[in-house]
Amino acid sequence: MKEFDKIPVSKVQRATKFIKTGAKIGTNYLRHYGKKLVNPDLSKDELHQDNAEDIYESLSELKGSALKVAQMLSMDRSLLPRAYQQKFTLAQYSAPPLSYPLVTNIVQKSLGKKPEDLFDQFTRNAVNAASMGQVHQATKAKKTFAVKVQYPGIADSVKSDLAMVKPIALSMFNLNPADYREFIQEVESRLLEETDYALELKRSVRLSSLCNHIRGLRFPSYYPEFSSKRILTMDWLDGEPLGEALKKKIPAGIKSSIGQALWDFYHFQIHSLKEVHADPHPGNFILMKSGELGIIDFGCVKVIPEDFYENYFRLLDRGLLDNPDRLAETFNNLKFIYPEDSPKEKAFFTDLFVELVELLSRPFAKESFDFSDDKYFETLYAYGERLASMKELRNSQKARGVKDALYINRTYFGLYSILHELRCEVKTHPNFN
Ligand SMILES: Nc1ncnc2c1ncn2[C@@H]1O[C@H](COP(=O)(O)OP(=O)(O)O)[C@@H](O)[C@H]1O
Ligand SMILES: [Mg+2]
Repeated sequence: MKEFDKIPVSKVQRATKFIKTGAKIGTNYLRHYGKKLVNPDLSKDELHQDNAEDIYESLSELKGSALKVAQMLSMDRSLLPRAYQQKFTLAQYSAPPLSYPLVTNIVQKSLGKKPEDLFDQFTRNAVNAASMGQVHQATKAKKTFAVKVQYPGIADSVKSDLAMVKPIALSMFNLNPADYREFIQEVESRLLEETDYALELKRSVRLSSLCNHIRGLRFPSYYPEFSSKRILTMDWLDGEPLGEALKKKIPAGIKSSIGQALWDFYHFQIHSLKEVHADPHPGNFILMKSGELGIIDFGCVKVIPEDFYENYFRLLDRGLLDNPDRLAETFNNLKFIYPEDSPKEKAFFTDLFVELVELLSRPFAKESFDFSDDKYFETLYAYGERLASMKELRNSQKARGVKDALYINRTYFGLYSILHELRCEVKTHPNFN
């Protein structure tokens, strides 16, 4: 693959990329509607496929926040046409690598020594792409490390990237400007945190030690002496990224134990720690030879505010749907509905979100839930696709849903998708302590 001596962080280069993407999407729509005049039954699937390819091509040449936004949106799988989904999920693996002199330079500047003076061995090439950097493997005194090196200039580019991705996101993802503002502020905060590997180190160490007791999980140790704002060093986890492993055959017993481990991991964090690894992407889990699931990448952590927690998880309370006053109050607090909505709007959005709550809370209704249930997921995706094309949502000048829900929803979508791919049954009410 082509190596980059420098990455296209300059505003002009990035703007050009985005404009190209925008133009291509426009062309695909024109092509689609041209065909549609001839064949009115043409489904939108073909259009989505064309767009997904173009967007993927353009975004995969970028790094940093643009790639993250693409992944963020791709995680919201059920809010996107399915054709986009696969392409965006791949984005993590396709960022072009940096040249070795540039890597040496970053390490020297950041840790005061060259990689070969810090370690016995250090791979010249990246062994894995990361969205804001790349991962090298290193050894010292018989230990093997993963060293994540951040691209220079990433932190500065986050804000300008987000500004440029806005027109595309607005048209592509059917988001109205009000939703987008809420969405973008929250994404921007998380992305800025993600550029700070010193913060990631602190969070990784704390959350790993608090979750270490959960059965079936493995956490690497972290090395502050080989870490900085731009470098993060931890034990190398020997195994295969879950995304890769899923393409092959995983024994049913292992699928079921890692599925349960993942469920326990997420619910312990959400309910007991009120902060959560908010990036359940198959690239962030390593299936170890032992059958345990290695957890990496605490770059994106959502801290859950107490009052949001209370309202959001009240949705799981089965009595809620039978109590209209309490339901209205909760929906108001979560901004699904607004006091100034017309009665018609109130009824419309209440029905819409009751349906969502009923769907998403199904796994919690019994002691265990079988995530291999294709019918359940079909219903979920169909709901999502309906939502994505809904003119009432698009025309609404107000954001529906509070910003704190964004990463929690995304965490659940990611978790459910992985469990679906694992096709496993999970005890959804384990004892978390
Ligand atoms: N400790 C590790 N052991 C093995 N592989 C790792 C380790 N850390 C990272 N990787 C590999 O590098 C990839 C990128 O690392 P990650 O921390 O997820 O970066 P990002 O924060 O950009 O998503 C991972 O998907 C994984 O394949
Ligand atoms: Mg990752």
